[in-house]
Amino acid sequence: MIVIRNETALDFPARETLLDRALPGRHLKTCEKLRRGQRPADGLAFSAWQGARLVGTVRLWHVEAGSAGDALLLGPIGVLPECQGLGIGTLLMDHALAEASAMGHRAVILVGDAPYYERFGFSSALTAGLNLPGPVERERFQGLELVAGALAGATGMVKAGRIAAGNGVDAGGDRRGTALIELRQAA
Ligand SMILES: CC(C)(COP(=O)(O)OP(=O)(O)OC[C@H]1O[C@@H](n2cnc3c(N)ncnc32)[C@H](O)[C@@H]1OP(=O)(O)O)[C@@H](O)C(=O)NCCC(=O)NCCS
Repeated sequence: MIVIRNETALDFPARETLLDRALPGRHLKTCEKLRRGQRPADGLAFSAWQGARLVGTVRLWHVEAGSAGDALLLGPIGVLPECQGLGIGTLLMDHALAEASAMGHRAVILVGDAPYYERFGFSSALTAGLNLPGPVERERFQGLELVAGALAGATGMVKAGRIAAGNGVDAGGDRRGTALIELRQAA
């Protein structure tokens, strides 16, 4: 059983260990420039747990997407190497996007492997007029509209957005509820 909860400050050491294993070199990425000094968007950082083991993480961040205005940057998302391919990444993506949509956010952008994110509706066509503050392979830079037309015709530079009003994590845990999900197969 996989449980997805809002991230808490207590998740920090396990999340860092997980990401160091799943995404070595993540601190060098262009998107890191948009995250540095920021906090995740309030209520939009999630941890996937299998019992007492952190097996996945995803965070979303406020950005200003050029002429499209307020948007979210998704990433990093990571799943423990020994737990990849079991559906945990999909659960995290579905949960994060559903929560972002329910909160009224209009669009999400990310940089990642296009074949993976296309299955969630992301497309590089939606970010074709936008630029990031560093090098990026265009086909890996993708967007998703949570509100139809939110990224239509968007041009300009993506900049770090406002810092979330809260501290970016929910000390009390699953403030917005917990998703209980069966794995495709035992991890
Ligand atoms: C990318 C990642 C978050 C996906 O999570 P996951 O739990 O392994 O993925 P899921 O089990 O939900 O989905 C598996 C499916 O996604 C595909 N997939 C996984 N990683 C992929 C990738 N990098 N590119 C394309 N497809 C990918 C698998 O082939 C599988 O396809 P299928 O359903 O048709 O069999 C996870 O594998 C991870 O942390 N990888 C290391 C970091 C990484 O490679 N990031 C690249 C994306 S930016």
